[in-house]
Amino acid sequence: MRRAAVQERAETDGYAVELRGVHRRYGRGAGAVHALRGVDLGLARGTFTAVMGPSGSGKSTFLQCAAGLDRPTSGSVRLGGTEITGLNENKLTELRRTRLGFVFQAFNLLPSLTVEDNVLLPLRLTGQRPGRRRAEEVLGQVGLADKARRRPGELSGGQQQRVAIARALVTRPDVVFADEPTGALDTGTAAEVLGLLRHAVDRLGATVVMVTHDPVAAAWADRALFLADGAFADALDRPSAEAVATRMTALTGRVPAGVAA
Ligand SMILES: Nc1ncnc2c1ncn2[C@@H]1O[C@H](COP(=O)(O)OP(=O)(O)OP(=O)(O)O)[C@@H](O)[C@H]1O
Ligand SMILES: [Mg+2]
Repeated sequence: MRRAAVQERAETDGYAVELRGVHRRYGRGAGAVHALRGVDLGLARGTFTAVMGPSGSGKSTFLQCAAGLDRPTSGSVRLGGTEITGLNENKLTELRRTRLGFVFQAFNLLPSLTVEDNVLLPLRLTGQRPGRRRAEEVLGQVGLADKARRRPGELSGGQQQRVAIARALVTRPDVVFADEPTGALDTGTAAEVLGLLRHAVDRLGATVVMVTHDPVAAAWADRALFLADGAFADALDRPSAEAVATRMTALTGRVPAGVAA
């Protein structure tokens, strides 16, 4: 009994992201939409997870709830071992700034700031005065050491997304959340960005959770999870693009027939 409890504790502590019984309902009564219907999930530190699913299956809602950007209607979310469900808005903002990194489809860099200042912004927002060395270090990690003084508009789309990844990594976060990070990129550039996320996991100890529509992108992850109708219905370890595409076709064909596991 005791040993089981200890082991469970160890497993819980090992999770970078943990959701238990998470429901998210939009609206009330007859018009209510159940975007998440009982999500149970633990993602180990140092792993790369791809979240897939048909349009409307709850991917963005999942990411928002997991990243503390939205609050579940019920259930609990832990990030790096911290239960965030009861945190007030200030504490949640602080936790997001210090312990999470975000990468978006549209890069979301500030055009008037240099690349270096964009990358250091998360640290400055927490009241730190980071040295130029830290910017050099993370920009080096994404292969853009020579672009520090440029502005985002002077870079290609792929380079801008690499800056966004450097910005996401600068605080050494517990988790990096990426929502369609390659959605705006061509195939070759997408591969570079995905290789970089893979590198961050393998070499820098990062934990990455990525929402994507693209089976080729999902194949860079350690694991692909499939959402259908607000619940995780399937998973693939070491996914190949072909296997992911096959699962997606099966899921899309079955929605909304209640595939929830
Ligand atoms: N703010 C909202 N108000 C009401 N319903 C919402 C809201 N946001 C999402 N939904 C609904 O919740 C469900 C899940 O939406 P979500 O955006 O999470 O899906 P998704 O898997 O990200 O889809 P896509 O692949 O199209 O981005 C959908 O039925 C959607 O219409
Ligand atoms: Mg979405």
